Amino acid sequence: MVSTSYLANRLFTPAFKQLRRTARRTRLHNIIRILRQLLHFGPWRIVPIRLIRACKGPAMLSHAPSACGLHLNPYKVARTLHDKGVYPAGVISQATLEPLTRLTNQLPPEEYHQTHQSLSAVSAIAGDPAIQNVLRTYFGCEPVLIESSIFVTRCEQDLPVLDQNHYHFDYAGWQSMNVFVYLTDVTSDSSYHIALAGSHNAIGVRDIIKGIITDNEAEQRFSGQQTPITGPAGTLFFENVEVFHKRSRGNERRVMLNMAFTSHRNLLSYGRASRDKLKSQQSLYRQLLAEETGKPVAG
Ligand SMILES: [Fe+2]
Repeated sequence: MVSTSYLANRLFTPAFKQLRRTARRTRLHNIIRILRQLLHFGPWRIVPIRLIRACKGPAMLSHAPSACGLHLNPYKVARTLHDKGVYPAGVISQATLEPLTRLTNQLPPEEYHQTHQSLSAVSAIAGDPAIQNVLRTYFGCEPVLIESSIFVTRCEQDLPVLDQNHYHFDYAGWQSMNVFVYLTDVTSDSSYHIALAGSHNAIGVRDIIKGIITDNEAEQRFSGQQTPITGPAGTLFFENVEVFHKRSRGNERRVMLNMAFTSHRNLLSYGRASRDKLKSQQSLYRQLLAEETGKPVAG
């Protein structure tokens, strides 16, 4: 007969030790996150920002027409972005959008990374002169594209609430900017994006420790600054990565392109997805495009 002490030694003790190790790791992970963010958001950040501008800038603005059909005054947009952190820029042209949505309309729900490497439509949007001019003016130097992801979200009503569904902020380089493009029509029923305008200038030590804020706290601190973004497929908006934002939990499929730019290269400049994952996503794009056009796609 198996004794209780044998069971405790062979089963429960190792399981308990593993649990304790995981808790320690999680605590350690959280401490590292807080320290990194204190370093990033401290008042000293002005030094690396100015140094990067001095070493890399200023960037020449392009006079080439926007293939996306955007008409933006880069100085005005950059000023608004410094102040509010978010700027809805309009809807991109069908000619640019359509080759991309032909593919993304068929993609299963998932996250697709480094898409500018496989999809020429994404690299065309990322390199559009109107978008680049805004980024050059905002950063004070030539921007670097560090990530381009396509997020395909299905109806979220029956899914657990995720971190992205709470107001939170992100950070990348010393200066960073997201350029988002909706690739489906996004209404108040879809998983639309909401930003708290101006909140990138109000991140405190408490926010760094907590990481997220509740809707009630958002209402108290940023009343009237909620900026929900809805619009037809092709709606493009700029958003400082450090602005408090969240994704509402919609009841229909939503597809969004997210291009993250920084003022300099960093560890994430080459993407976070594994090489195997990128390869399998690339072959999925080829297969879907071949099915759609009836012709094999080279590459
Ligand atoms: Fe986020």
